[in-house]
Amino acid sequence: METSLMFAFVIELLISALYLAGPVRSLLPACRNLCGGIAVDYPFGIDDGCGAPQYRKMLNCSGAGLFFLTPSGSYRVRSIDYEKKTMVIYDPAMSTCTVLQTHHDLVMSEIQSVVIPPSSDTIFALVNCSVDSPVLNHYRSLCFNFSGHSCNELYDACTSFRMFRMLSNGYPPCCFTSYSTVRLMSMNILDCSHYTSVYNTDNLRGVGPLDWSYGMKLSYTVADTGCQRCQRSGSTCGFDTETEVPLCLCSTTANSTRECSGINATGGGVRPNPLALFQLFVLGASIRFFYHI
Ligand SMILES: *[C@@H]1O[C@H](CO)[C@@H](O)[C@H](O)[C@H]1NC(C)=O
Ligand SMILES: *[C@@H]1O[C@H](CO)[C@@H](O)[C@H](O)[C@H]1NC(C)=O
Ligand SMILES: *[C@@H]1O[C@H](CO)[C@@H](O)[C@H](O)[C@H]1NC(C)=O
Ligand SMILES: *[C@@H]1O[C@H](CO)[C@@H](O)[C@H](O)[C@H]1NC(C)=O
Ligand SMILES: *[C@@H]1O[C@H](CO)[C@@H](O)[C@H](O)[C@H]1NC(C)=O
Repeated sequence: METSLMFAFVIELLISALYLAGPVRSLLPACRNLCGGIAVDYPFGIDDGCGAPQYRKMLNCSGAGLFFLTPSGSYRVRSIDYEKKTMVIYDPAMSTCTVLQTHHDLVMSEIQSVVIPPSSDTIFALVNCSVDSPVLNHYRSLCFNFSGHSCNELYDACTSFRMFRMLSNGYPPCCFTSYSTVRLMSMNILDCSHYTSVYNTDNLRGVGPLDWSYGMKLSYTVADTGCQRCQRSGSTCGFDTETEVPLCLCSTTANSTRECSGINATGGGVRPNPLALFQLFVLGASIRFFYHI
């Protein structure tokens, strides 16, 4: 009787040691909040379960820096403005005023088009279009001039696009248009051999194409899921990776759906979570039952 009681006790100790050393510690919500010098905060997250579920798996942080992932590839993140709720991304395969590269469609997922589409002051310049291009015919109304600029300026000012003017002995058709056009029609349908994109177009009056900002500015929205309350309690907003229910990631051992006050996140010690304690209790009880203690 004495020895089996002792035995059961030792087993319980061993099991609890396992719980403390293993699973509980791996529950640490590791939310990296910096990548390549860019702060990554709500609603974005690098690690799964961090940030808002709508933005899940949209960012990748590697040795090369922070990237925005879309069905058409990875775009380098240049900056994120959490006040204005914008993100500037850059397509390394895109032409600019100085670099000529064959076009590469921007394809965003359905959810990206809804929660983080290009801003209205981001325009797409379709260059060297064929005379059969829809934007010169049926969809002519989708082309516009912005801040006093017409797209023919690109052929005059840009070292990259100048060759088209020389090759065709004039100005090949071109078009400044918005993201909705590019979303509707792929570059093959648009029938333009090259494109570039420019952001902050409202500030470019009187500024020549060589000095424009090339890239895309995305404008994101965040639903109010009580993250501010969570952040005020000194914690990180995340979500359950299985159910995608928003969570306030409080400490190594507890999450809350709202805020972490009441649950102390500052303690350095590792505490078993309630489920582990319950399993421990069940195990202990069955061991006692088995040994008829
Ligand atoms: C993220 O970057 C890493 C390192 O470059 C790479 O191995 C991984 O496949 C990337 N993940 C995605 C989803 O693109
Ligand atoms: C420019 O467009 C024309 C007509 O669509 C096409 O034949 C030509 O290959 C394009 N030029 C380049 C350099 O892609
Ligand atoms: C843009 O400006 C050019 C040059 O001033 C003009 O010829 C063209 O008709 C304008 N295009 C649109 C769509 O307003
Ligand atoms: C807290 O949430 C994170 C992210 O979903 C998860 O990895 C972790 O296991 C959760 N911790 C607990 C104790 O539920
Ligand atoms: C949490 O910790 C802080 C400082 O360590 C302490 O002031 C506060 O009373 C604690 N709160 C709870 C609910 O234990």
